[in-house]
Amino acid sequence: MPCQTNGDLQLIVEEAKKYTKLGKVADYIPELGKANPGDLSIAIHYPDGRCISAGDIDKKITLQSISKVISLALVLMERGNRYVFERVGMEPTGDPFNSIAKLETMPAKPLNPMINAGALVVTHMIKGDTVEERFNRLLGFIRELADDPSIGYCERIASSELEAADLNRALCYFLKQHNIIKEDVEILLDLYTKQCAIEMNCLDLARIGMIFAMDGMDPLNGKRIMPDDVARICKTFMVTCGMYNASGEFAIKIGIPAKSGVSGGIMGSVPGKFGIGIFGPALDEKGNSVAGLKLLEFLSKNYRLSMF
Ligand code: DON
Repeated sequence: MPCQTNGDLQLIVEEAKKYTKLGKVADYIPELGKANPGDLSIAIHYPDGRCISAGDIDKKITLQSISKVISLALVLMERGNRYVFERVGMEPTGDPFNSIAKLETMPAKPLNPMINAGALVVTHMIKGDTVEERFNRLLGFIRELADDPSIGYCERIASSELEAADLNRALCYFLKQHNIIKEDVEILLDLYTKQCAIEMNCLDLARIGMIFAMDGMDPLNGKRIMPDDVARICKTFMVTCGMYNASGEFAIKIGIPAKSGVSGGIMGSVPGKFGIGIFGPALDEKGNSVAGLKLLEFLSKNYRLSMF
């Protein structure tokens, strides 16, 4: 079913677009710095297959940190909760996403899978003998969630990040020293930067959000893509740590499970109702899409979406 442009949504996007001026595109990954800060688009995907949108929803977004939720779901399925949570914690940090500070407070196990240190540990757990095999396993899962076999990754952005990833490199070496990761750091970073560079449009992102909202079930073909317990854990992390050190304010003002990325993407899952995909590359100082947040705030208020 094609995605329908929606007038009400378009008005909200026009209103929220004014806020793009308050943000800046991420440029610590040089290729991301080329995005147009004025862009803003949204798609909403319902479990019955209907989809509504506003803005240019064909623009491609790299997942960046949004991929952390999906890699977590994959390793929970492949390894089980016990194995995973022996290596990464469940607590929010209140620190920026790339902070190294809390690792020094023993045990060195990262506090949660949504900060970079924790996400690197999760990516380390993806099964397979080669980067290619592990990456294809993750990509296959993502294609299944989005029901889009054409999803791939942006080589330009992956290699731009790999070159500039010295902070993540430092996190990896720290984790390796403490025996939390046990592989070659460059191999892990190669896999991680490819994972972050997986790209799709807002519609795919909204569809993935919808699968989480439906507890891991694809209502359009009746297939269970992940156990409901895995979807539940992922959504809980989206609420407690999905917007980094803005997660508390986000829970109060918006109140839905959501995950952001420095590309300006936000994936939202309104439990039992629908999935949301947003692209707005101008970011606030915490790394969240500034207009994307406004858009979600309008939607949450107007349609009473908060789960609290
Ligand atoms: O590891 C990084 O720094 C990026 N690939 C992803 C960070 C990110 O998206 C944080 N988001 N707000």
